[in-house]
Amino acid sequence: MNPQQIDRAVEHFRALLNEQAARAQRLERGAETALQKRGKTVIGIAGGDGIGPIIVQQARRALACVLADKLAAGTVELREIEGLTLENRMACGESVPQNVLRDILECDVLLKGPTATPAGGSSMESANVTLRRSLDLYANVRPVRIPEENIDWTFFRENTEGEYALGSRGVDLDGMAVDFKVTTDAGTRRIARAAFEFAKNNGKSRVAIVTKANILKKTDGKFRDLCFEVAREYPDIEAEEWYIDIMSANLVNPALRSRFQVFLLPNLYGDILTDEAAQLQGGVGTAGSANLGDQYAMFEAIHGTAPRMIAQGLGAYADPESILRAAELLLRHIGCVEAADRLSRALHICCEQERKCVVTGDKDGATCEQFGDYLLQTLNA
Ligand code: IPM
Ligand code: MG
Repeated sequence: MNPQQIDRAVEHFRALLNEQAARAQRLERGAETALQKRGKTVIGIAGGDGIGPIIVQQARRALACVLADKLAAGTVELREIEGLTLENRMACGESVPQNVLRDILECDVLLKGPTATPAGGSSMESANVTLRRSLDLYANVRPVRIPEENIDWTFFRENTEGEYALGSRGVDLDGMAVDFKVTTDAGTRRIARAAFEFAKNNGKSRVAIVTKANILKKTDGKFRDLCFEVAREYPDIEAEEWYIDIMSANLVNPALRSRFQVFLLPNLYGDILTDEAAQLQGGVGTAGSANLGDQYAMFEAIHGTAPRMIAQGLGAYADPESILRAAELLLRHIGCVEAADRLSRALHICCEQERKCVVTGDKDGATCEQFGDYLLQTLNA
């Protein structure tokens, strides 16, 4: 290997370390500026890519229905966010173009369809990752319920650090590639606090801290140690240590899985385990996801853009349940509890009780729009 390559990589690593150290210091100091508060709540809506605009369209209809009074009174606004498409992002050469980010920041919260990430060859970062970082949305909260098994899980996935912080900025040398994983004290403490506060305020008695600290001794070791340190502030809640491999197995162990309540985990493990959990609930198309910061919040489906469905011409058959669950989380977050309950009841009727119109993701099922019609009828019944 060319020694100059190594030198360049070391310089690159030095710059990354300096940058991350500065970020860690900013986190220690806490949020610097509070976002401007307006007289009304502005909900930004971005369709995204692939099946995104198709499913978001149905979420928009549902929101317009349950918020009709507030929209008419002008206390809530639904605002279209343009330009978060892959085409525009590639044309601008930015994962989230500056003017789009400005428009998003003009809203109080964002409902976002999945966005495509150019893979491999392109070094462009995922728009999700950029948004989570730019808006400092450090808590990715993903509820999963399987009522018939008494399963009520809430995942608290750290959302701005770990493998994702520098995931698009590794080094590629002759015959070898290296990526970096970053865990900060302040970044860990705040997600741990979010999880334990949730447990305390929602009558949960147990939090599972999930890492691979036996192997990734520095980053996961720190995550585990600091989570246990925060846990000491919550003596009524039991903190348990688990490794991600056995936890992945436990989620498919019916004898054990219903005992888990709250999960607290670093970014990548959270990404993987929540897809598994959603699949157990009924599919990745069924789970919503909240990305929460101290100032801003973004809500989305937990799945991606489904390029295979689009390629097979099945986009119209995409399941909007996940983005509708995200819309429900959004409504709760902005304090529209009645509207959220109404949407939740209608989803329960349409997806679990009556199931008069079932989306299968294929031509044997209903289209996304047909399901939207059914949901609207149910909401208005
Ligand atoms: C998720 C998604 C994203 C992630 C992708 C789209 C970047 O899988 O929200 O779980 O990896 O976080
Ligand atoms: Mg994921």
